[in-house]
Amino acid sequence: MQLSKREIEMLEGKYGYPAKKSMEILIAVGECYDAPRMISVSSAHLVGCNPITGGRAGAAFIRELADKGGKFIISTSTNPACLDPWNWKELKFEEGLYQEQIAVNKAVVEMGGFLSLTCTPYLTGHVPRAGEHIAWSESSATIFANSVLGARTSRESGPTVLAAALTGVTPEYGYHLPENCYGQVKIAVKTELKGTTQYGTLGYFTGKVAKEKVPIFVGISPYVSSDELKSLGAGMAVSGSVALYHVVGVTLNAYTEEQALGSKKLHSSDIYEFGIKELNQTQEFLSKKAPRGNSLVILGCPHASISELKYYAQVLSGKKVVSDIWILTSRIVRQYAEKMGYIESIESNGARVLNDTCSLTMPRGHLKKLGYEFVITDSAKMANYVPGIHDLPCYYSNLEQYIIDSNTKTWV
Ligand code: F3S
Repeated sequence: MQLSKREIEMLEGKYGYPAKKSMEILIAVGECYDAPRMISVSSAHLVGCNPITGGRAGAAFIRELADKGGKFIISTSTNPACLDPWNWKELKFEEGLYQEQIAVNKAVVEMGGFLSLTCTPYLTGHVPRAGEHIAWSESSATIFANSVLGARTSRESGPTVLAAALTGVTPEYGYHLPENCYGQVKIAVKTELKGTTQYGTLGYFTGKVAKEKVPIFVGISPYVSSDELKSLGAGMAVSGSVALYHVVGVTLNAYTEEQALGSKKLHSSDIYEFGIKELNQTQEFLSKKAPRGNSLVILGCPHASISELKYYAQVLSGKKVVSDIWILTSRIVRQYAEKMGYIESIESNGARVLNDTCSLTMPRGHLKKLGYEFVITDSAKMANYVPGIHDLPCYYSNLEQYIIDSNTKTWV
């Protein structure tokens, strides 16, 4: 790879061990992808700053970088922790794990990172602008940044983001190159979609057929909300490796189909229809069993926005909910929702709003340890992962439908 004078100096150790180690990581990745050079990035979003998802070795590596004087030279936010620091005791986490998480948080802050502790950093003030090159990990955040905000990032990992944050550069490959950002498959949406769950279902269907390609959507309402786009991206980033999509007439650089595709002409095998049949089939695929036993409802994946918390507060108001409910969000959005009265309204109904964490970044099997036998979720991403990570069956439904079903259906 061609390196600048400053990059060579970092590699030689002139700027200390953290920058040297980071350049070694970035060069190894760049060589894998045949990147010709490094490019400057201005923002980083870090996964793995969590002793469960990053492992204890990862936590030790972060500590070592902080101890050796590492400083983030670009704006750096963090993904969810392994527990909610405000109620870890109540939720039966070990004190040792709490201390380990606090130690990682401390190291990140020492290096200059923001403890956003969320998979939706763009809802907490960490918002890249269109065309900005960034280094983000967390598949749901990456795809939102590329597709909705118009920034440019590859699907980064914890170590590569850490390295980018310490050096301000990343290898130039993937979506940093304009020629890789055009649509490669087309999804013709033939049914009217409503709500984040249905958009998540479309996303899940799309990831299965597009795999790692860039999909373009036609037939989506121009009034699609940013929460619906958040779910759409999270769904396809989990069932496939999609990190960029275009919605014709809605997202940047996709005012027309021609603009979204560039000069590419699609074959009929690159075009898929998504109608009621595909919506129902995908929903059933994610929801193999009807709820039974001690169930937990998990909402807020990706982390809930202020509008979603308002919606959950309204839907739960006056309803009888027999299951426990967790709603996941960031600490910043939670504080906003507190001021608006949404948290009080949600929690007066017996539901719990957890911040800084996610049920998938907790220790494996923790939900079973809490006595749960079943999970109900409105998120395609959560429905995809819960059976594997927590060894629990999952029912996939939006909250309103679940409340109706749980009061009218006999589930045996
Ligand atoms: Fe976020 Fe956890 Fe879902 S990290 S995207 S709430 S699986």
